Amino acid sequence: MNITLRIWRQQNGDASGKFVEYRVKEVSPDMSFLEMLDVLNENLTVRGEEPVAFEHDCREGICGSCGFLINGVPHGPRRGTTVCQLHMRFFKDGDFLTIEPWRAKAFPIVKDLVVDRSAFDRIIQAGGYISAPTGSATEAAAILVPKEAADTAFDAAACIGCGACVAACPNGAAMLFTAAKIRHLNALPQGQPQRDKRTLNMVAAMEREAFGSCTNHGECEAVCPKQIPLEFIASLNRDVIRAAWRPHREPLAVVGAPSHPAHEDV
Ligand code: SF4
Ligand code: FES
Repeated sequence: MNITLRIWRQQNGDASGKFVEYRVKEVSPDMSFLEMLDVLNENLTVRGEEPVAFEHDCREGICGSCGFLINGVPHGPRRGTTVCQLHMRFFKDGDFLTIEPWRAKAFPIVKDLVVDRSAFDRIIQAGGYISAPTGSATEAAAILVPKEAADTAFDAAACIGCGACVAACPNGAAMLFTAAKIRHLNALPQGQPQRDKRTLNMVAAMEREAFGSCTNHGECEAVCPKQIPLEFIASLNRDVIRAAWRPHREPLAVVGAPSHPAHEDV
């Protein structure tokens, strides 16, 4: 099949960019979208032109490096699929595809389809970890994890940090990403000691970046290649209220009982 691509070319963040049209011939339906771009880049290199810059690493949908807009949709038309896992059989011969980088203030353009997503790293640095003793490996069953908590944490941990949620959001909000990263650890027993601090610090870090605010559009969930659900945003909002309220909580007073500090609920 033959495909026409209209690709955003921009030398760096300071230069102005423009769309450039390319024809890619004899594309195999078994190629991934990135392999089709590899073919284009090989042709460009042979012609002495500069190849199109795009990010990739695992090409298996697990690292979160790849991602751009195809006809305005982050990661293209297939639900729950990264561009590295998107195959050309889902397109038609003669298709005309517009490819451009994530458009979000918090993700400045580095070159062509590559954007700087280090704002995500700074959110993780603010609390996306647990503190545990180092040394020899602990017994796997030393801390029992309820099945429901393990399943929730696993679902949240599926977020690969690709940034599609931010690119799809009309406000450029990073709530789905932040909610997934916080939920992953807040769901687990090992995440409880730092739960409140983690929640407040990661939300504060998100707000320091150039992301917009969440207004419940739901575009993020629709384009997320890992299908992270909106309910994680709801649970983040509950965790924020809980964390902000807890320091002001009065000790539990039971008539006739000795006075003790209130138990922490989890
Ligand atoms: S929530 Fe989904 S779209 Fe957003 S960064 Fe994580 S995997 Fe990507
Ligand atoms: S290259 Fe790793 S998720 Fe696409």
